[in-house]
Amino acid sequence: MLDFLGDLRRTHMCGTLRPADAGKKAVLMGWVNKRRDLGSLIFVDLRDRTGVTQVVINAQRDAAIHEKTEALRNEYVIAVTGTVKLRDTSTVNKNIATGEVELVADELRILNESKLPPFLPSDTALTNEETRLKYRYIDLRREVMQFNIELRHKVAKAIRDYLSAQGFFEIETPFMTRSTPEGARDYLVPSRVQPGTFYALPQSPQLFKQILMISGFDKYFQIVRCFRDEDLRADRQPEFTQIDLEMSYPQPERVWEVVEGFLNAAFHAAGVEIKAPFPRMDYDEAIRLYGIDKPDLRLPAFTDVRECFTPENLQELAINSNLPLIAIRTPKVGELSRKERDDIKPMFHPKGGAKIFEDFKRIANKFPEATAAIAKKTAMEDSDLIVLVGGSTQAGSTQTISAQTGLPAAAPTNRKVTPQELAIYASAGLLRLSLAQKYADRHGIFNKTGDDAKDFRFLWVTNFPMFEWDDADKRWNAAHHPFTSPHEEDMPKLETGVESLNDPQSPLSAVRALAYDVVLNGTELGSGSIRIHRQDVQSRIFRALGMTEEEARARFGFFLEALEYGTPPHGGIALGLDRIVMILAGAESLREVIPFPKTARAVDLMVDAPTPVSAAQLRELGIAIKDKG
Ligand code: AMO
Repeated sequence: MLDFLGDLRRTHMCGTLRPADAGKKAVLMGWVNKRRDLGSLIFVDLRDRTGVTQVVINAQRDAAIHEKTEALRNEYVIAVTGTVKLRDTSTVNKNIATGEVELVADELRILNESKLPPFLPSDTALTNEETRLKYRYIDLRREVMQFNIELRHKVAKAIRDYLSAQGFFEIETPFMTRSTPEGARDYLVPSRVQPGTFYALPQSPQLFKQILMISGFDKYFQIVRCFRDEDLRADRQPEFTQIDLEMSYPQPERVWEVVEGFLNAAFHAAGVEIKAPFPRMDYDEAIRLYGIDKPDLRLPAFTDVRECFTPENLQELAINSNLPLIAIRTPKVGELSRKERDDIKPMFHPKGGAKIFEDFKRIANKFPEATAAIAKKTAMEDSDLIVLVGGSTQAGSTQTISAQTGLPAAAPTNRKVTPQELAIYASAGLLRLSLAQKYADRHGIFNKTGDDAKDFRFLWVTNFPMFEWDDADKRWNAAHHPFTSPHEEDMPKLETGVESLNDPQSPLSAVRALAYDVVLNGTELGSGSIRIHRQDVQSRIFRALGMTEEEARARFGFFLEALEYGTPPHGGIALGLDRIVMILAGAESLREVIPFPKTARAVDLMVDAPTPVSAAQLRELGIAIKDKG
C-alpha cells in the first residue's frame, strides 16, 4: 500500500511556490495538513517547515490515484508531482504566501501513514501542555514552534558569526567535571571506574574559561549547555544554554561593547533593530528607582513624594518622614471601582516595616495640595493609578531582606541604602510589577504583538555588592560568584571585613564588585564580571566567605594553583540564549523556545526521564538506593 521514495527528488519546498512558477513542473513532499473532499476534486494542504501549498487531485482521473487519495489522512507523509497553476481570483487565499497558486497533481505517492495524532499541528485551540510535551515531535510541527526553533537557530548563528569575526575562538569545555559554584545544586554523574566518586555537570564553564585566559587564548566564547538543579520557573530550565565569553585585559566597558555588538547582530537576525550603547545604572540607583536589580524600564520609575506632604500630613497618616515615601505610578489604569481598590492591598507583601497607602483617592480628598504636588512630581495623567508605599511610624520590625530575591532572610547588601529603606524599596518594587501585570491589558506595555512588542529596553546594572548576608546561616555569600573581583578602592574593606565575618554590619557589606548584569524589559539576560587574577586576593575572598585555607584548597586547589602561573587580568559574561529567544519570540516560557524542555518538576515527558536504573547498573556503580521518598 505504501510507496517508495525511489529516485523521486523534491524540487520545491511547500512554502515557496509563487505566481511566477505557474506552468512549471514541481515535486513537493510533506505532511497532509488538511484534506477537503469535493467528490471528484480533492484538495490537500501539503505542509513542510516552510509553509503550505494547496494540492488539487482529480480523483476521477484513474482508479489508482482515486484509491490513494481516499486513503489520505491527516499527517500522512506524501510526495506529489504536478504542475503549478494560478488559482482563480475567487479562490486566492491572501493569508498564506502560496495563496495565489496551487499544484495540480499528476502523481501521488504515500510515503508513510500516521496514526491519528492526539492533536493536530494545525489545531488553533492548544491542547494541554503535558500532551504537547509528551508528543513533542507533533507539537514541534506547529507553525509557531517551527518559527521559534528557526529563530533560535538564526540568533545563535548571528552571535557565533559576530564573535568569530571579532576574533573570539569557540572552545569546548568538559561536561563531566567538578562542581562550579553558581548558587544551584549540582547534577552528579557517578563514576564506575572509581566507585563512590562523582563528576558534576557544569553549572557554567566559569573556571574553565578563566583557565583558558591563563592558557593564552585571550578571547573565548562558547554557546554551551549548563546544568543546574534549582527550583524551576517560566524562565529557568535545569539544562539551558549560555552564550559564555571571556577576554583578557578588558575593562567592564569593553565586555559591554562586545555584548551590545552580538545582541545587535542577534536582534537584527530576528528583524529587530536595537540601539547601543545601552543605558547604565548603578545597583544602588536601580534599587532606589525600581526596588529591584533588574528594572523593567518600560514602566515608570518610583518617585519619592515625602516632600509633597507637610510634616503634619505625614503625622496624621502615620508615615515615617525619615523613610522614603514611594509613589508607584501605573499608567492608563482608568477609574477603579471600590472592589478593585480593595483588591490592591492583598497584592502587597510588605518587607520589614513597609506600609501601603493604596487608597490614593481617600488621600486625595483629604490632602488636595499634596495630591496636586504628587501628580506633578510623578507626571501623572488622569487615567494613571498611584499607590503609595512608605514606612509606618508604628513599624518596629528589623526583618531584613534582599532586593535580588525580594524574599526575607538575606540582608541588606548595599552601602547607601539602609535596611529599613531597602524594605520599602523592595516591597514597592514587587508591588510595582504586580500592578503592572494586573492591569496589563489596560496599559498594553507588555503586549506581545503590535508596536508595544517592539519596545526592547536594555540596561546595564553595574557595581553590584560583592557579598550578600545569609541570615539563616549567619554568614556572607558571594552575590555573583566567588571569582568576581572587588573594586580596587574597596580592597581595604576586604582586609578589615574578614575580621568580622559573622556580623551583618561587617565592612564586607560595603565592598562593591566589578560585576554587571544586562537586563531586558525586567528580565536578567546575563551576568558577568571582571575576575580576580591574583591568588592572594582570591584566597582572601574565600576567607571572607567563611572557607578555611584547607576547604578552599580541597574545592578549588587546581584553580588557585593555576592563578599562580602568570594569570592575566581578565573578565567576561554569560547570557541566557533561551531567554533572548523567548523574548524575541514573544513567548511566556522557555519551554516554547527549547526543542525538548523539561517540566517544572524537571521531567522530560517525551522520553520519560529521569527513570530508575537496573539493579545491575547500580551494583556496578557501587550505589545502593536507601530511601525512594
Ligand atoms: P549566571 O549564573 O548569572 O552567571 O548565568 C548567566 C545567565 O544564564 C541564564 N540562566 C538561566 N537560563 C535558564 N535557566 C536557568 N536555570 C538559568 N540560570 C541562568 C540567565 C543568566 O543571566 N558564570 C557566570 C557568568 C560569568 O560570570 O561570566 C554565570 O553563569 O540568563
